[in-house]
Amino acid sequence: MRKYLVTGGAGFIGSSLIRELLNDKSNNIVMLDAITYSGRRENFSDLTDNSSFTFIEGNICDDQFCNQLILDTKPDGIINIAAETHVDRSIDSPDVFIQTNILGTQNLLKIALEHWQTLTSSRQEKFRFVQVSTDEVYGSIDTGEVVEGSSFRPNSPYAASKASADLIVRSYNRTYGLPTIVTQGSNTYGPRQFPEKLVPLIILRALSGLSLPIYGDGKNVREWLHVDDHARGIYLALLNGIPGHHYNLGSSNRITNTEMVLLLIEALKPFIEGKNKDQLINSIEYVPDRPGHDLRYSMNSKKSRQELGWRVSRGLNDGLLTTVKWYLQNRDWWKPITNKKYSLTRLGSMKG
Ligand SMILES: NC(=O)c1ccc[n+]([C@@H]2O[C@H](COP(=O)([O-])OP(=O)(O)OC[C@H]3O[C@@H](n4cnc5c(N)ncnc54)[C@H](O)[C@@H]3O)[C@@H](O)[C@H]2O)c1
Repeated sequence: MRKYLVTGGAGFIGSSLIRELLNDKSNNIVMLDAITYSGRRENFSDLTDNSSFTFIEGNICDDQFCNQLILDTKPDGIINIAAETHVDRSIDSPDVFIQTNILGTQNLLKIALEHWQTLTSSRQEKFRFVQVSTDEVYGSIDTGEVVEGSSFRPNSPYAASKASADLIVRSYNRTYGLPTIVTQGSNTYGPRQFPEKLVPLIILRALSGLSLPIYGDGKNVREWLHVDDHARGIYLALLNGIPGHHYNLGSSNRITNTEMVLLLIEALKPFIEGKNKDQLINSIEYVPDRPGHDLRYSMNSKKSRQELGWRVSRGLNDGLLTTVKWYLQNRDWWKPITNKKYSLTRLGSMKG
């Protein structure tokens, strides 16, 4: 049995990763999550009867709490997915991004190192600290693709906080020898994503008869990855990654935001009553651009395919269709959000 501590497992990618980990019966998972606005108990309620799964509510910034948790669980590895994740919110309130993404990661690294130093040499060798990061750390890529080792040029407070954490992770590997791995995932979509992000925002606004907002001229390019492929990549990095290395997890499915909204309209049109495709297209509204908006992300992920054995299994059209169907079939999941927490409105426009 291998025991892993996973932080942030109540969120979008974390809840998919936990399922991926639990598919392997030799894994035992302790999941730590602060249940912030985007973390949801509904995302793992079907797992609570599983004897290989334990949920602990707590904050990665709380050093005494995390220290005790690691003393109690003695994990064989830690996967840090917990983060503040929405660029627009980082424009409105950067402080919590610095707190959770940088200081929270440093806190976990410090405690992980103390724990690692107490392990036998054979357990030390197998131990991994996996930091889940993003392609946004590379900044906007005018042409071509970035590879692992390309410069970090983050442009939003979110991306800067993730890049800072990645560099601190690197220092723990180089200075103290902690076996760390960083994954650089691209824009992710799929079930259980909080509807502030483009894909669920467009789906839920279309289902609610609202306009479909696109920032700026809609020409910003993103590389779209299904959440289950992202989770699989993180797990393979844990199993097969070389300590000290970064792994790009990109799908090569690069399209503009306008193209993404048009694909969503195509997937949505059979399910929207009272509006045909042209009327849905006419609902597109180009709104003032996001400050500091990166034009293009584009990663070369050959290293992950060759060294981790990672493959993208979900095509974009099929992935979007199943995602649309998931939101249609799971209104109980998102109605409490749109009724109480977030009413599908604009964030991060710096207009207060
Ligand atoms: N969503 C994407 O497109 C994408 C792409 C690449 C990388 N990533 C990275 O993947 C990770 C997960 O992203 P996501 O989209 O699932 O985010 P999410 O917002 O859906 O989930 C984040 C989770 O972290 C928890 N959390 C936040 N602050 C915490 C704290 N201080 N202590 C404990 N738990 C805390 C939240 O409660 C939530 O469950 C992040 O590190 C993000 O940077 C996301």
